[in-house]
Amino acid sequence: MSAAYLPPQLRIAPSILSADFARLGEEVRAIEAAGADWVHFDVMDNHYVPNLTIGPLVCEAIRPHVQIPIDVHLMVEPVDALIPMFAKAGANIITFHPEASRHIDRTLSLIRDHGCQAGLVFNPATPLSFMDHVMDKLDVVLLMSVNPGFGGQAFIPETLNKLRAARAKIDAHMQSGGQKILLEIDGGVKVDNIAQIVAAGADVCVAGTAVFGAPDADGGYRDVMQALRAPVQLSL
Ligand code: DX5
Ligand code: ZN
Repeated sequence: MSAAYLPPQLRIAPSILSADFARLGEEVRAIEAAGADWVHFDVMDNHYVPNLTIGPLVCEAIRPHVQIPIDVHLMVEPVDALIPMFAKAGANIITFHPEASRHIDRTLSLIRDHGCQAGLVFNPATPLSFMDHVMDKLDVVLLMSVNPGFGGQAFIPETLNKLRAARAKIDAHMQSGGQKILLEIDGGVKVDNIAQIVAAGADVCVAGTAVFGAPDADGGYRDVMQALRAPVQLSL
């Protein structure tokens, strides 16, 4: 039996899509205090996905409230014009969907040229081959385990196979001297499936409703963040 993947450090990225937008500063401070590694920031344009959320102004507004990286997930088309705006607004990581950019290599370079880490996002049916010729420009590979557009959807089980395949590609790249690439998963991550997801190869787990839907009595998120880490630690 092959050993399950053990990330050197599991990163948890609460998605503020499920936060209380009327108290966003407080919400991001609370997740940082609870040990969140990244703030996951979902940008939807009612064009690439059938929903409309937040943009660079909101990124700029939350930036002073946290030290942890802001992980901007662009579900927008076209992509390029927003990159300098998010970089200026304090984004640390910017990922986009390859179907939404005419020139994927150029968009990845644009993100890095603006001082951010760059990543590609794969919808459930998008083949991993989109990464093959741009591996050297990737800091993050994000696999969607739901169709993008909404929080609170169920994890698509086929994503576990896709995670293993992406893990193998990334490991082969790093073993042949390539730079580090983090493998991130987004959609339907819960306390009861996170151990399986991490064992299949994820380094970073996004969790929206699982985190913001389970506040502590004082409005913090310490219990749920611990509950998300516990099954992974137990399986080590
Ligand atoms: C979906 C978004 C996700 C979403 C995840 O398009 O990209 O980041 O917030 O939410 P949950 O964890 O509730 O599935
Ligand atoms: Zn997302």
